[in-house]
Amino acid sequence: MSDLIIRIGGEGGEGIISSGDMVAQAAARSGLNILTFKTFPAEIRGGYAMYQIRFSTDEIKSEGSGFDVMCAFNQEALDKNRSALKPGTVLVYDYPGGDIKEEVNIDGVTCYNLPMSQIAKKELEMYRAKNMVALGALSELFDISSESVRDTIHSKFGKKGEKVVGINLNAIEAGAKYVRENHKKTDPFKMGKAERADKDVIIISGNNAAGLGALIAGCRFLSCYPITPATEVAIFMSKYLPKLDGTLVQAEDEIASIANVIGAAFAGQKAMTSTSGPGLSLMQEFLGYASMAEIPCVVVDVQRGGPSTGLPTKHEQSDLFMAAHGGHGDAPRIVLSPENVPDVIDIMVQAFNLAEKYQVPVLVLTDGSLGNRTESIQAPDPNSYEIIDRKRYAPNGDGPYKRYELNESGISAMSHPGDADGAYIATGLEHFETSAPGYTPELHVSMSDKRFRKLENIEDELPPIEVQGDGEADLGLISWGSTLGTVRESVDMAIAAGMKVKALHPKLVWPVPVKAITEFASGCKKILVPEINKQGQLAEIIRSKTDLHLIQYNVYGGLPITPDELFEKIKEVI
Ligand code: COA
Repeated sequence: MSDLIIRIGGEGGEGIISSGDMVAQAAARSGLNILTFKTFPAEIRGGYAMYQIRFSTDEIKSEGSGFDVMCAFNQEALDKNRSALKPGTVLVYDYPGGDIKEEVNIDGVTCYNLPMSQIAKKELEMYRAKNMVALGALSELFDISSESVRDTIHSKFGKKGEKVVGINLNAIEAGAKYVRENHKKTDPFKMGKAERADKDVIIISGNNAAGLGALIAGCRFLSCYPITPATEVAIFMSKYLPKLDGTLVQAEDEIASIANVIGAAFAGQKAMTSTSGPGLSLMQEFLGYASMAEIPCVVVDVQRGGPSTGLPTKHEQSDLFMAAHGGHGDAPRIVLSPENVPDVIDIMVQAFNLAEKYQVPVLVLTDGSLGNRTESIQAPDPNSYEIIDRKRYAPNGDGPYKRYELNESGISAMSHPGDADGAYIATGLEHFETSAPGYTPELHVSMSDKRFRKLENIEDELPPIEVQGDGEADLGLISWGSTLGTVRESVDMAIAAGMKVKALHPKLVWPVPVKAITEFASGCKKILVPEINKQGQLAEIIRSKTDLHLIQYNVYGGLPITPDELFEKIKEVI
């Protein structure tokens, strides 16, 4: 198979994530491209957890639609996925001796039973090893490299001691043996190998990619408060910042986190925080302060379902209004949104470059699906990126330092504490050019204009926005963030089916890239905006800056849109 999707479902705490990770590792080591998707409950144990791995010899754009192989650890997993068990798919399920009490027969579906709970309890005397029994069976059935699986057992469970490693290795063999002795393979699915295994490929999650991109950009300070699904960004940074003379501060809350970041940036560091919706809400006052005092900083918001505590482990794109408009006063900021894991690295470098260049807060919106997802990607070359640093003050004998000099670009030179003749006051108060507080009407007008003037031409200064498809279109799609992967795949499907469809893939979402959007729209009869939120937040902010008629497609059940669903919507709208 050139493209195969395996889904593993069961109860949180049963090791679904570990077994999924190991299938993904094995596929990537075989030279295949991988893209994973996980969804799990907010509880540490219990509830439905799912891990899906898509692997292919071709480029993978999204999680895909449905699956080819489902491995059900319990009845709930089977029930939740029964409607997706279409003819031609395969089911591997825990029977007998587990939570599923009856043999399963579904028309057109190849069903392989596997007493994973029973083998784990009775033969291995360690119920926890159930997931590795399943993995052994999957590797026997679908030709997943058992050597690679064994290697990952050592790296994954090595710290738990030799006994645990030994039992898990036996579990792999027990699962494979059960399949050999009890089943004759009748389905066509097989993982296979890519022709070449590229040595420069790394397997990395979206959250780790955010950290990696920040390090490449020169970020050496992170302060944050842990929050699902963003904590992994800081865990990654905690491993590398100390080696690079950097600093990580776990603060007492998100207000302190962003305050620390602003302090570090004021002192000369490239600094960031990572958070999710509730944390970004708390940061709003300080983000306004960074806009007013013109201090460069970067915030990664790994969006989750809201409002409030909402759906902490579920996928949603509903922080765009807050990212663009949160807080009080007229405060310029930039909002960027990457579409996949390699893009996260590039966009993080761009975020730091823009923060430095324009001395504004830059918010990078990823999401739960993208942050938790792993992909096999080409290892980035840090030297291939252009790195921009802030405009620094150098005394020229022209009188006192004007930190907030009113000039044509709006960008004024920044000094750091200790710079000769570079002292200034960086408060949240409105100020004169020298930074001394001032409140006259003329001053507030000229300084507000200065702060916004910096971003007036941002769209022209960034690379052109990619358009997928060409010519006049019956339908154009505009979307953002990780939904762009689904858009790419469904637009390809529509074009292959003979439809005139194209798509715009913006990464700058605020300020709205009005020129690119209006030019794109002029070649489309209708515009569809798919996004994962109730209100149509991207559609609304585009409407606020253009007079375009936009058709919304809003999905907000905590899961991404699948390419098949979007393809159906495209057909319906056309
Ligand atoms: N042998 C030994 N140990 C094993 C094992 C095996 N065969 N299989 C799994 N484990 C261990 C894992 O190593 C892991 O241990 P660790 O915590 O020491 O790393 C543990 O069992 C859990 O397994 P894992 O595969 O990582 O997860 P899971 O599929 O069982 O799912 C989660 C558990 C991830 C769903 C759940 O724990 C979780 O984190 N939920 C989300 C909580 C959250 O963020 N809430 C929101 C708060 S606002």
